[in-house]
Amino acid sequence: MSLLALHGVRKRFALGEQEVEILRGVDVEIREGEFVAIMGPSGSGKTTCLEILGALSRPSEGSILFEGEPVEEWSDDELADLRAHRLGFVFQTFNLMPRMNALRNAALPLLYAGVPRAEREERARVLLERVGLGHRLDHRPAQLSGGERQRVAIARALVNEPRVVLADEPTGNLDETTGEEILSLFEELHEEGRTLVVVTHSDAVAERAGRVIRLRDGRVTGPPA
Ligand SMILES: Nc1ncnc2c1ncn2[C@@H]1O[C@H](COP(=O)(O)OP(=O)(O)O)[C@@H](O)[C@H]1O
Ligand SMILES: [Mg+2]
Repeated sequence: MSLLALHGVRKRFALGEQEVEILRGVDVEIREGEFVAIMGPSGSGKTTCLEILGALSRPSEGSILFEGEPVEEWSDDELADLRAHRLGFVFQTFNLMPRMNALRNAALPLLYAGVPRAEREERARVLLERVGLGHRLDHRPAQLSGGERQRVAIARALVNEPRVVLADEPTGNLDETTGEEILSLFEELHEEGRTLVVVTHSDAVAERAGRVIRLRDGRVTGPPA
């Protein structure tokens, strides 16, 4: 079943007086339970594409479908609900809150979802333990290594038990060993039946994915969706 799809998506940004077209007619279909890698040169539109798949940014043209429903027709409440309950996003630069410890960072999506504090913290703790950070609950981002911050970001993306996890170069800033650990974690999530869409430059990540979507100059170059 098609879980997430982009049809004819174009994205333009104003750049001074000019307009640049970053995505130039992208068609993508992600099926339930797939592990898909998005690859392509720097500047080819991978992050822009992932943000549109995650309903964080709207296309200039074309449509996003979630379970076949066109997302652009959804109300703001429905969109907020989609982001709060069904999608998990791992940002390239982690986007952790500097003043919050790992536990509160990982629990943050549950605050937005209106979950009571005790339950938030319990669920965040379970996930941090799962990513191997049970001993770092009280550390702030500045007191964590790059790999540990990435794991907090992954725990935060998973805390609302999303069906789809979207990750932007999750191993990009990590050494090889830490990257392997994060990759194993993604494989586990995939085996549990979660749908994963991962932007990556890493052949190791692409090898484990079931399918690779290649972007070049804002277009999918293959293989066909
Ligand atoms: N908000 C924006 N305004 C103007 N240009 C942007 C914006 N976001 C991205 N771009 C440009 O779009 C191009 C593709 O960006 P991006 O999707 O981040 O590529 P990738 O992730 O593949 O490196 C880049 O040239 C970038 O500078
Ligand atoms: Mg990018």
